[in-house]
Amino acid sequence: MPVDMVLHNAKIYIRGRIVEAGLAIDEGRIIRIAKETNLPPASTKLNLKGHVTLPGLIDSHVHLRNQQLAYKEDFFSGTAAAAAGGVTLTIDMPNNKPVTMDSISLRERMRLAERRAVVNVAFYSAFPQKLEEVPSIVKEGAMAFKLYMSEKIGGLDIDDDKLLLQAFNRVAKMGVPVAVHAEDRKILETKRREMEKTGRKDVEAYVKARPPEAEAQAIKRIVQLAKKSGVQVHFCHVSSAVGLNAFLTAKKDGLPVTCEVTPHHLLLSLEHLKRYRTLALTNPPLRTRKDVIALWSALKQGFIDALASDHAPHTVEEKEVESVWDAKPGIPGLETTLPLLLTQVSEGRLTIADLVRLTSEKPAEIFNLRNRGCLEEGNWADIVVVDINRKYKIDSSNFYSKAKYSPFDGWSVKGKPTKTFVNGQLVMDEGEIVAKPGTSQIVRWKG
Ligand code: NCD
Ligand code: ZN
Ligand code: ZN
Ligand code: ZN
Repeated sequence: MPVDMVLHNAKIYIRGRIVEAGLAIDEGRIIRIAKETNLPPASTKLNLKGHVTLPGLIDSHVHLRNQQLAYKEDFFSGTAAAAAGGVTLTIDMPNNKPVTMDSISLRERMRLAERRAVVNVAFYSAFPQKLEEVPSIVKEGAMAFKLYMSEKIGGLDIDDDKLLLQAFNRVAKMGVPVAVHAEDRKILETKRREMEKTGRKDVEAYVKARPPEAEAQAIKRIVQLAKKSGVQVHFCHVSSAVGLNAFLTAKKDGLPVTCEVTPHHLLLSLEHLKRYRTLALTNPPLRTRKDVIALWSALKQGFIDALASDHAPHTVEEKEVESVWDAKPGIPGLETTLPLLLTQVSEGRLTIADLVRLTSEKPAEIFNLRNRGCLEEGNWADIVVVDINRKYKIDSSNFYSKAKYSPFDGWSVKGKPTKTFVNGQLVMDEGEIVAKPGTSQIVRWKG
């Protein structure tokens, strides 16, 4: 019996090296990586023409929306954007309408995604009001809990450290991580009131209302709770030097903490925010060049665990409003992350090994995604083929995402995802989505 598919004439990234080889896939899994002559006969043979072949990206920070927010994004448009960007698994955030915060809302999202998604989807849940429900949410398959320290989303009173500790203790017992949006609500509220009183409506006022200290303060608070509970904490979109320092202190103390950084916080700063205004508005906001340098330095020293897009789609109408206080924060990132990072590779600021570690290997590890995150026999065939020499300009009007804008619009990039395979199935080919909606997997926590 021939196997389902053989990809041949590839340059495959395997354990830190690029190897000229081919890859045999059967029933969605990689069953063999070998020189062409040693591959089994296959029903379909695809010549990858010497292109670099990497594990598909695992994006641990994606807002797929759907339901009452489907006008911003839905499971098809969001996962099509993922496939176009070489992302084979997205972990979906819970700040939806309705909020994902119990087994019922989670099951409903899984049901909807199962019909429409074209890449694998796993889910976060917010905390339920009744902490007794934590185990049922994990049983339903949530990969992690998400805690917003900036505003109340879900059932927990975020000003109550005692309650947060109880929540962390519960989650620690289940063995899943807690991902945290670390900006301190009280600091944000005070600063915002101050700024609004001045009558200012510009993006710089918004930045002043969300200072780096709010990030550092929230991280410090959460670290104390992590220490007491032993829970594994993942800090989302760390953006500032002081926030990073608070995180690094905990990491160097040996606590089970990890962090993620976004491409926009690595590549943009206040100058860009002034130019692109509310289109580049996001939380936490873009920071100073000094902050950007601090993020890069930590990344190069190996202290950053993951890169994630924080793909946060809104309509242009919601973004381009007169007063910054009315603008929706968030930047779509699924279709720009890999091209931007490959450009960094081509410019020598990042190695391919860094890229794969930060976008595939480590996210798989942090979120316990079994048999994913690297190209290995036995693993799911989640694969992105890239043309590392292809030069082009980012054009947000071509996005699959409903959010057809980007602060990176018009940027020249070098490196393009040309084929995306999800569980062995070709989903994106030369920018076209070639799979039917609903052909991917819902990935559930398996204790
Ligand atoms: C996110 C969104 O729009 O859901 N917005 C953002 O500015 N990043 C929420 C979030 O990740 O904090
Ligand atoms: Zn060949
Ligand atoms: Zn956030
Ligand atoms: Zn987010």
